[in-house]
Amino acid sequence: MSMNSCHRSVTGHSVAGILYSAATFSCLGISRVSHGGANPVATQLTINGETQTVESSPDTPLLYVLRDELQLNGPRFGCGLAQCGSCSVLVDDVEMRACVTPLSAVAGREVTTLEGLPERHAQTTGLDNAPELTPIQEALVDEQAIQCGYCYNGMIIKATELLENNPSPSRAEIVTAMNGHLCRCGTYPKIITAIELAARKMGEQA
Ligand code: FES
Ligand code: FES
Repeated sequence: MSMNSCHRSVTGHSVAGILYSAATFSCLGISRVSHGGANPVATQLTINGETQTVESSPDTPLLYVLRDELQLNGPRFGCGLAQCGSCSVLVDDVEMRACVTPLSAVAGREVTTLEGLPERHAQTTGLDNAPELTPIQEALVDEQAIQCGYCYNGMIIKATELLENNPSPSRAEIVTAMNGHLCRCGTYPKIITAIELAARKMGEQA
């Protein structure tokens, strides 16, 4: 792939907001598809409520296992350095950066990705059925808080962690909680307003 076609590919995928990382790695000549490594080991963990056995090497970043082995593409590759939050997942009840979390660190633990949040919401609130979108996702839509959407995964994961622990956060507490999540489009005020809205609606439904 020439540099020009490489640039076009990355730009196109970036606009789509879906496959940026795959395109970037492809341009660098790096494949992220296979992570068996020299010592693939069967590792059992719970993903979105289902026990799964994966085969990647124990030092493989969880993000690669989720995206490439399990085809869970909610978590996204942004910085790869635990700096942006686009890869975030919940491990048990705590937000973690999947790009720097080795598979071995989550063996036997419960991982929730963006895909599992509606079911998690139903379980934590006593709903009979999982909604299509969680209140946080609905509020982000209502506030039109998302532009390209690349940060969407991490923002929702972090906001979920926040509201599960503090159902009525102040605006200052929301700002503090979301501080480590970067939005390249700068929609921070709308994201914060959306989290306030979600907290209000969840409080009314409780
Ligand atoms: S990709 Fe993991 S924090 Fe940026
Ligand atoms: S990075 Fe584009 S909406 Fe946040």
